[in-house]
This record gives sequence, structure tokens and C-alpha cells, in this order.
Amino acid sequence: MIHFESVTKDFGTRTAVDQVSFTIDKPHMVGIIGRSGAGKSTLLRMINRLTPATSGRIIFNGEDILSLKGAMMRRWQRDCAMVFQQFNLVPRLDVVTNVMLGRLNAQSTLKSMFNIFSADDVNTALAALDRLGIVQEATKRAEELSGGQQQRVAIARALMQDPHMVLADEPIASLDPMNAKIVMDALREIHERDNKVVICNLHTLDTARNYCDRVIGMRDGKVVFDGEPELLTTDVAREIYGADESFNEAATSTAIDTPDASVRKTDPAGAMTPAAAAVV
Ligand SMILES: Nc1ncnc2c1ncn2[C@@H]1O[C@H](COP(=O)(O)OP(=O)(O)OP(=O)(O)O)[C@@H](O)[C@H]1O
Ligand SMILES: [Mg+2]
Repeated sequence: MIHFESVTKDFGTRTAVDQVSFTIDKPHMVGIIGRSGAGKSTLLRMINRLTPATSGRIIFNGEDILSLKGAMMRRWQRDCAMVFQQFNLVPRLDVVTNVMLGRLNAQSTLKSMFNIFSADDVNTALAALDRLGIVQEATKRAEELSGGQQQRVAIARALMQDPHMVLADEPIASLDPMNAKIVMDALREIHERDNKVVICNLHTLDTARNYCDRVIGMRDGKVVFDGEPELLTTDVAREIYGADESFNEAATSTAIDTPDASVRKTDPAGAMTPAAAAVV
């Protein structure tokens, strides 16, 4: 589905992402973990072209998405919807309009300028809000909602783009544990019901374990772990976080209660690439 080949990003003399190669060949929910500065956000931002890569290729459906330009690039950006830690909503606009903004770059500039949406757009937006359990907030201004509700609006906006995949950069880092659970459940539901790739940068190990089929650990811009969460032992976590013996998983815990055993459904086919499931 998506294949990374030696993807690198230099900021001056600092290499934020260092020759990263991996393949996602199943509609997995992938968690990217690593300490602050490991390169998680830079990697996600290169996928949807918010940050230009220095070198390497990202192949999707046989096409190097790093070389797309103009309308093709905007189309790609719509195909991989991004969800941010700070929601990135327009605070004074009502919720349903915020969701419809997910359609913007599929529309003509003139229509976009005047926020002209069709009845179909309104219905699709309301359906997305309903799916996320917040349709009753549709007419409120975004700024009137709680953080957890705002993040759900941002996810509804992502759904409105009808994307191939959803990229989420620390989607729960600003939320309390209860809202964090609601938002992670929503992302998991999109992955399972729509069979979409969801790639999620996460600060906390337990969230990655509970929600993801595959975890990629980054350290100093490199992939140092790629495998099923079951393989993420405390020793491996220490290696990823570059911590010493005193490392304690609670230090990266969100205290989201583990839902009924596990929300994660195991893919019986395994679905790992041969390179996966190993500490590199
Ligand atoms: N726009 C930029 N200009 C210069 N350096 C940058 C820029 N963005 C990121 N960096 C550097 O690249 C490295 C990786 O940053 P990145 O934001 O990708 O890390 P991260 O793993 O997402 O960290 P965090 O967990 O704190 O969000 C860091 O050293 C950071 O300082
Ligand atoms: Mg980051």
C-alpha cells in the first residue's frame, strides 16, 4: 500500500529522519513511538507533503508521492487526511462548517472562497459527526466545545475528505484520559470499519500497545523497532527511548484504562512484512 525508501529529512546539519525504509502492506493501525525529537512528526508531515523530504521516495500505488506537484499534490493531501494535536479547527465557525472544510480542496476556488456547500456536503458532514457521537453539537461554534469534542470534529473533518489513510500526530496529547480513550476508539473504529490505514504518532507506550496492530519505534531519526506490540518488551522500550535501567513504563503511560481485554483485533494473517517484527 505504502512503501518508504530511504526517506531522509535534514534541517541544516540536523538529520531529523534518517534513511527510513518500511512498507505498510495491509490496512493496519500503525503507532509510531519514540522520545521527543525522534522524528515522528517530521515523518508524518513528509507523508502528506507538509514538510519536503531531503531525499528518498514514498511510493503509493506505484507513484512516488514526494514528486507530486500542483493539483496532484493537493489531491494526495486530501487522500491522506491529517489530524493534529491542537485540532486545527476554525474556532469561530460552527462545527458542521468546520467539518465541511474537509471538502475544500475538492471544490473550485470560487465556491471555497464563499464557503458554498451543497446539501449533500451538509448531509455527509452531519453523518460524519453522528458517527463520532457529536452530531448534537453541529450548530455550536467550535470554540464552545471541549478538547475531546474538538478532536472528534477534526476526525469528522478528516472523514469528510474520504481519505485513503488517516495520519494523526499526537491526537490525544492534549486530552484527559477519558477523552483520549474516546478519540483513540474513534480512530480504531475508522481503521476497522473502513479498512483504512491509520498512522498515529503516540507519546505513550500503553496506547500504542492497546490500539495498534504494528508499532514503529524511532530513535534519533532512525527506525529501531518495527513489529507487533506484543514484541514491545520493557527492554525493547528502553532501547527505543534510550533509557537506562531505571526506565519505567509508567513514565510513558496515559492511564487510559485498558478496554475490555483489548480493543485491538489481531489479524490472523499476521500481515507483517518480512522485515517487520524485529528490533533492528
Ligand atoms: N522546522 C524545523 N526546523 C528545524 N528543525 C526542526 C524542524 N522541525 C523539526 N526539527 C528538528 O527535527 C528533529 C525531529 O523533530 P520532530 O518534531 O519530528 O520530533 P518528534 O519525534 O515529533 O518530537 P515530539 O515528540 O516532541 O513531538 C528535532 O531535533 C527537531 O528539533
Ligand atoms: Mg512530534
